[in-house]
Amino acid sequence: MAKILIVYHSQTGNTEKMALAVADGARSIEGAEVILKKAGEAVLEDLLAADGLAVGTPENFGYMSGMLKDFFDRTYDGAREKVFRKPFVIFISAGNDGTGALKAIERIALGFKFKMVYTPVIAKGAITEEILDQCRELGATIASGCQIGIY
Ligand SMILES: Cc1cc2nc3c(=O)[nH]c(=O)nc-3n(C[C@H](O)[C@H](O)[C@H](O)COP(=O)(O)O)c2cc1C
Repeated sequence: MAKILIVYHSQTGNTEKMALAVADGARSIEGAEVILKKAGEAVLEDLLAADGLAVGTPENFGYMSGMLKDFFDRTYDGAREKVFRKPFVIFISAGNDGTGALKAIERIALGFKFKMVYTPVIAKGAITEEILDQCRELGATIASGCQIGIY
């Protein structure tokens, strides 16, 4: 059974809509188990137990949210050398950009040595049905890849 951890922060609900769609997509894969956690509630043990990780954040001031950064800060020491090439994907809700948050997460992922396994989903403005479809696909892709062990 592939365990997919989804860690996200959302202040006004947009990233949360995306997170729920990622979760739906992952759950559509037979045998996948989804653990959906707000960034402030996710802990090191969640990360270590996961076969795959999806992280979501709004873009705030050209960066990821403070809460997602806090999750990375809190877990880095304990996760170091234990999450080598753990598959991960990213989803971002931005007003009109998203590239600053993406770059920051990619950089942190290099430190953890996560392996990005699918194109990030970046929503600019309202969360449309098309974005939600992309999020479902994101979730289904990481879950199916982990389930069949291709990463
Ligand atoms: C404090 C703050 C800073 C923001 N900075 C950016 C930014 O740098 N670039 C951007 O495209 N949108 C920015 N936004 C817009 C949010 O990324 C956008 O509204 C997003 O959909 C919020 O997601 P949420 O509903 O999950 O909180 C900012 C919003 C806030 C509240």
